[in-house]
Amino acid sequence: MNAPVRSLSRMSAGIVGSEILKIAAEIRAKIAQGENVLNLTVGDFRPDLFPIPESLRRGVVAALEAGETNYPPSDGLLDLRKAVQRFYAERLGLEYPISGIIIASGVRPTLYTAFRTLLDEGDTLLYPVPSWNNNHYTWLSGAKGVAVEAGPETHFLPTAESLRPHIGEARVLTLNSPLNPAGTAYSEPELEKIVALVLDENGRRDSAGRPPLMLVYDQVYWMLTFGLVRHLTPVGIDPRMRPYTVFNDGISKSFAATGLRVGWCVGPDEVMGPFSSLLGHIGAWAPRAEQAATVSFLQDAETVDRFLAGMKGEIVGRLELLHEGFGQLKQDGYPVDSIPPQSTIYLSVRFDLIGKSLNGNTINTNEEIRRFLLEQAGFAAVPFQAFGLKAESGWFRLSVGAVSQADIRTLVPALRRALDAIG
Ligand SMILES: Cc1ncc(COP(=O)(O)O)c(C=O)c1O
Repeated sequence: MNAPVRSLSRMSAGIVGSEILKIAAEIRAKIAQGENVLNLTVGDFRPDLFPIPESLRRGVVAALEAGETNYPPSDGLLDLRKAVQRFYAERLGLEYPISGIIIASGVRPTLYTAFRTLLDEGDTLLYPVPSWNNNHYTWLSGAKGVAVEAGPETHFLPTAESLRPHIGEARVLTLNSPLNPAGTAYSEPELEKIVALVLDENGRRDSAGRPPLMLVYDQVYWMLTFGLVRHLTPVGIDPRMRPYTVFNDGISKSFAATGLRVGWCVGPDEVMGPFSSLLGHIGAWAPRAEQAATVSFLQDAETVDRFLAGMKGEIVGRLELLHEGFGQLKQDGYPVDSIPPQSTIYLSVRFDLIGKSLNGNTINTNEEIRRFLLEQAGFAAVPFQAFGLKAESGWFRLSVGAVSQADIRTLVPALRRALDAIG
């Protein structure tokens, strides 16, 4: 029966599901069947390895018991908006009125709503690849996507030079730092150049009476930076970016709370007004009890800092183990490479196996490399194609939220043995 297809809108008929979730589902099914696979696919956490903060958990239970079970206000609990306001002022130096802060059920609805608020059909959304889901948001917004490729030489972050040729036609530029999938983050000089590019462009548009170029800045991983890496914001770099910048953020990653569904969007009033109306119709509100618990948690600076220090230690320990293991393999002449971890829960790794032969067959694609890693080395990873990069270059994202350090210690020797079979 083909009839159902004819009943679909063009938008939903053309929709493509998440490539990452597809791979993750395949791996979960294998594990459920008893196969021994290390799952480094999803940007999520195993709750036994990365539990949410204890006070946050207790806060959710207490809020439910106290009857926080009805609709929250559609913009979010006022106390949570105030808590985010203070959190941003104290930790990022960003001062926003309450009207510029809206709560949603995670970061996804803030991104979707921001794009729908800022883009008309046919407008250009400029985004870098590799990046997370921008191809899908382009489609959902009816926009024209322009993807700019970034490579390992810039840690997979787009530069002002690479964006410049496309900036004139863009209605919205979207950036994500720290970056999923690469685990890297903007340095001050690079972000300064991009800020200057946007401000110059908007100076020209203002003189010509044209609408400004807006920047959707996804900073969901901003608390997960390591060592000397410091998170930077466009508005922190130059306050003149304030009318053009929409921040997307939430508790999902920094507090291992992906299932709690609390996110927020922060931006200029003229955007956040219509944003609020649109989000209200979608109804993607964060659950009320989770909002109430997040208020108390964010206000407790000491607990937040203690939790983050512990969590970052656990993550960076895993990422460093992987990076050092791959470094050792590289030194021993194996075709692998990785980028030093700077942030997030991800490591960028290259398995340079294209053109190499396995059991008499030549490896031609990242998908073949993915299968090789899964079947011969026992671990699952996501190729950068799932993040929009076209080249069959052997680059993969490894996510450490669902593996232990002991797991990782078995991964590198298993990979070494598997690579010994490659000619
Ligand atoms: C860059 C980035 N933004 C947003 C999200 C979505 O976050 P949430 O789970 O809060 O919707 C993710 C999740 O993987 C992400 O990596």
